Amino acid sequence: MTELTNLQNALLAAVAGAEDEAAIEAVRVAALGKKGSVSELLKTLGSMTPEERQTRGAAINALKTEIADAIAARKSALKDAAIAARLKAETLDVSLPVRSSPAERGRIHPISQIVDEITAIFADLGFSIAEGPDIETDYYNFTALNFPEGHPAREMHDTFFFNPDEKGERKVLRTHTSPVQVRTMEAQEPPIRIVIPGKTYRQDSDATHSPMFHQVEGLVIDRKAHVGNLRWVLEEFCKAFFEVPSVTMRFRPSFFPFTEPSFEVDIQCDRSGGQVKFGEGNDWMEILGCGMVHPNVLRSGGLDPDEFQGFAWGMGLDRIAMLKYGMPDLRDFFNADVRWMNHYGFRPLDMPTLFGGLSA
Ligand code: DAH
Repeated sequence: MTELTNLQNALLAAVAGAEDEAAIEAVRVAALGKKGSVSELLKTLGSMTPEERQTRGAAINALKTEIADAIAARKSALKDAAIAARLKAETLDVSLPVRSSPAERGRIHPISQIVDEITAIFADLGFSIAEGPDIETDYYNFTALNFPEGHPAREMHDTFFFNPDEKGERKVLRTHTSPVQVRTMEAQEPPIRIVIPGKTYRQDSDATHSPMFHQVEGLVIDRKAHVGNLRWVLEEFCKAFFEVPSVTMRFRPSFFPFTEPSFEVDIQCDRSGGQVKFGEGNDWMEILGCGMVHPNVLRSGGLDPDEFQGFAWGMGLDRIAMLKYGMPDLRDFFNADVRWMNHYGFRPLDMPTLFGGLSA
């Protein structure tokens, strides 16, 4: 019997010494598993005489029960200890400051901000948004807009031309957003009131020019539309955009093939301090081109100029963003420098609205 007592002592010691759930499981396998020490003893019961079975057999069975109980008890104690340790390790300090979410840390590019601001203003005036392709046909970029073939104005645009396709047609990177005027006239019936924000391209690069830049175009077509309406729309826009109670604008005669008459618009400003201020001062700053839509452009759009008339304008966004938000170099807009974005970018959840303040 000492052999059983020794085994019992050894197993109880192993159970008591098991420090975690893996260790106690190893003890269980070694004792009660298929080839475990106690299981092996149990196998000898079959070959015992009835007397032996009553004494030694009973002792083996008692050992088995004792060890199984000891293992179960140790297992549950280890489990409780593991849970207690985990609870201790995983406590939360609810007084810690909340970590900012990616939506808080990200920044909206000033150009996206300006587009959102401008669309908020024009949406409020009843305009909708239209878009067109960046890769444009020569027809929509020039011909449909009343640029005659070979006209020098085509050269003035410093156009990026693609290689001619099989039909000899040369696509271009659109040099302005104006082609979307004709695309929209073709696609929808008047009255039309749209703004067209988008990317535009010209071969030009310095501190105030980038080969890829942004414009917003406006177009109104109706049975009656006149320069007075155009002027009112642009004034309302400038007041809202520059967030000033009044602006003074100057319309200078100009030339664009797609408008007649054509104007360049300056707005009154004050450059005496380091910053440009609008709605006051003795200086003028050119901000956009505009005019009454040329009859040939209405015809390109499938409209009868005796029935319909309209006005349009086009404005560079990048320079206006620089002015409004005081960025010195246009090229920084496209350098993807995170430090610049952190400084000049806008918080993503602050969508510009007229009621909330555009840039507040
Ligand atoms: N497309 C012209 C440009 O890029 C800007 C422009 C001028 C647009 C007059 C217009 C307009 O719609 O009426 O220089």
